[in-house]
Amino acid sequence: MRFYSVIANAVRSRRRNHLSPSRLLYRSTSRHLHSQPQSHGPPPPPFGIAFDIDGVLLRGESPIGASQQALRRLYNHSGELAIPYVFLTNGGGFRESERALELSKLLGVHVSPLQVLQGHTPFKQLVSRFENELVVAVGKGEPAAVMSEYGFKNVLSIDEYASYFDGIDPLAHYKTWITRKAANRSTLEGMTTRDDVCSQRVQAAFIVSDSVDWSRDIQVLCDILRTGGLPGREIGHQPELYFANDDLAYQASFPSERLGMGAFRIALESIFNSIHPRALQYTCFGKPNPFVFNNAEAVLKQLVSSLYHKAGHGNDRTHHFRRLYMIGDNPSVDIRGARQAGNPWFSILTRTGVFKGTDNHAEFPADMVVNTVEDAVDFILKKECS
Ligand code: G3P
Ligand code: MG
Repeated sequence: MRFYSVIANAVRSRRRNHLSPSRLLYRSTSRHLHSQPQSHGPPPPPFGIAFDIDGVLLRGESPIGASQQALRRLYNHSGELAIPYVFLTNGGGFRESERALELSKLLGVHVSPLQVLQGHTPFKQLVSRFENELVVAVGKGEPAAVMSEYGFKNVLSIDEYASYFDGIDPLAHYKTWITRKAANRSTLEGMTTRDDVCSQRVQAAFIVSDSVDWSRDIQVLCDILRTGGLPGREIGHQPELYFANDDLAYQASFPSERLGMGAFRIALESIFNSIHPRALQYTCFGKPNPFVFNNAEAVLKQLVSSLYHKAGHGNDRTHHFRRLYMIGDNPSVDIRGARQAGNPWFSILTRTGVFKGTDNHAEFPADMVVNTVEDAVDFILKKECS
């Protein structure tokens, strides 16, 4: 029996059983996913979902509307995942395993680290290039721990790196907060003294998450970037610079959007280009880059494979998604990205975050506009399961 006919039967029998559609969906998907046929059970769903986080599911740490209930519909009655989905966020600052735990708590469902795709997740691909080189990680949270988990062996947070250079931030003594400079010292290999750090060239700077102290970070990054990675020395070839995303703004708990990493990039670039003869060179990851969506598709296939392999339904290389839904709040990031990625992506724009318009967005129109993520999930389940 095909997947959608299993669900359709359940939905048809809804009136007889007087149960809510979502309850029936859990039941049917439970049978579908966990009845473990000996050789051939029903095939995996031909669709998957990618959820943006900020402005769709959460505002700061608070769930938006009924986003928890919307996600719960993707699990069976035992709380096991029934519909393959991932979180596709440009945010970050924490390891995927930690973020999965936090999302589980905030959203009330079990989230696996495999489902968490953050702006900085693709930095992993650069490990072979910088594995043993000194690199600096910038941003809120634990940027050095993130990079260290990816396999970078000589990574320092900018907090710690700056702490080795006396006077590098002339405003430091006006700043009353405490930086966690000692927290990541274990991530260093073979560099234990100030001289070790100050005499080794920084080969790359990674903006992992939003900068906390723009004035200090812009100052120190300009020092690193204009001197070839040796602050206080002469001008040298610019080390590599990577940003986890280029979001100008994003939706947090404040009613209007907040400045994001893209705004920080503009500030750094503008200042660097004013004090340096050559324009700043950099690479931005994150949505809307199409490779982020291709990677999300690959991860969704992996997810299907891990859920279904016991039932003998092939593997991540063979599963084909007829449709992948991107639910986002930012037209120039989420919708633009899904549109560029093309088939099988279908974009759904919510009005709960950066986008607050009544009609579709003029420049980056979505395939569909809805008020909330619950509306989006409702639409998807009705379309795919009846
Ligand atoms: O810093 C977070 C932000 O840039 C966007 O997060 O979940 O809306 O992609 P998200
Ligand atoms: Mg968003």
